[in-house]
Amino acid sequence: MMYTKTEEQVVLMKEAAMLVSKTLTEVATVLKPGMTTLDIDKLCMEFAKDHKGTLSFYNYHGYPHNICASVNDVVVHGFPNKSPLKEGDIVSIDFGVILNGWHGDHAYTFIIGEANADAIDLVRITKESLYMGIEKAIANNRIGDIGYAIQEHTEKKHGYGVVRELVGHGLGKHLHEDPQVPNYGKRGTGLKLKENLVLAIEPMINMGTHKVFTDEDGWTVKTQDGKPSVHFEHDVCVKKNEALILSDFSIIEAAEKANINLNTSYY
Ligand code: MF3
Ligand code: CO
Repeated sequence: MMYTKTEEQVVLMKEAAMLVSKTLTEVATVLKPGMTTLDIDKLCMEFAKDHKGTLSFYNYHGYPHNICASVNDVVVHGFPNKSPLKEGDIVSIDFGVILNGWHGDHAYTFIIGEANADAIDLVRITKESLYMGIEKAIANNRIGDIGYAIQEHTEKKHGYGVVRELVGHGLGKHLHEDPQVPNYGKRGTGLKLKENLVLAIEPMINMGTHKVFTDEDGWTVKTQDGKPSVHFEHDVCVKKNEALILSDFSIIEAAEKANINLNTSYY
């Protein structure tokens, strides 16, 4: 089902999205080589609970953790584990909460320490593509305009692979609502966007082939060629002239810049 929100509901959804942004800011503050993704899971769980949030990923269709931690060739839905993060890793942390009945769901990719230039470019360009998609999230545009903008910047301009099997989605009382929001598509096609539709826009961009497979655990999505993949996600409200971004990367970025263990050389 597709639900547009009232102005009051959009305000509540901003609070939910911001709780996720604040949680990812905590992650950005402490992240360093040697830390494990299970440590990050615990931190996110505790921070959200301390701020009246309910964890939304845990047990979602049987998902066994609170965050998705997707390192290097893992595209999305990686299980947090005990292996220490190391210099050069790129790790997407995807986290979701329910606050006052509304979902926040967003993701950010961090670069640990020194990384190779190609990986850093992939992170920067994927983040850029997210904002290009968001620019199209205005009333009377179509879903295909969002995917087209993301695909043009990543696949056409830079030769990266846009993951086809997983897509963004509507967000609200449910984690996944209609419509689906592909990161590829044709301009002027698909559903017409309405004011106060809230979307989770989440490009998943591979350095090499767009092809992916799901691991034996039934969740972990990896690139077929073993090359890295990057994932950023924002919660966005469709408006008449300019999309309203409900989540906030600026606080995450400030913490990232202040953390000497994280690479922000692309800023
Ligand atoms: N942002 C991810 C998505 O929209 C969250 C996955 S939730 C999980 O698919 F519980 F399935 F991991
Ligand atoms: Co999502």
